[in-house]
Amino acid sequence: MANSVGLHEPVEWLNPDVIDRHRAITSLQEELEAVDWYDQRVAATSDEALAEVLAHNRDEEKEHAAMTLEWLRRHDPALDLVLRTYLFTEAPVVEVEHQAEAEGAGAAASKAGDGSLGIGSLRERR
Ligand SMILES: [Fe+2]
Repeated sequence: MANSVGLHEPVEWLNPDVIDRHRAITSLQEELEAVDWYDQRVAATSDEALAEVLAHNRDEEKEHAAMTLEWLRRHDPALDLVLRTYLFTEAPVVEVEHQAEAEGAGAAASKAGDGSLGIGSLRERR
């Protein structure tokens, strides 16, 4: 395998799983950077038709980012746990952390069976 400038250890010391996660993380980074670039161009152009095309492209990059993040979630249990804790909640983010810490790792693990992690009450708050 050719060296990647993003690898911080000799490639022969890295497992294939680590290298694939590196590929996904790099791709996710690139997709989110593209979202930012397009977002700025949409804001800056005075041509409405160009803004429409760029906004379309920007939002496709968001889809690419989401697909890559989902792949990473499926291949990283710790990432899966934190995404299940924080995403799609309605309470202030720091409050979600406090609730998760109060429940503790044991509580989170025991609730993992139903997939809820006990954050339903936070999701429903408005
Ligand atoms: Fe993309």
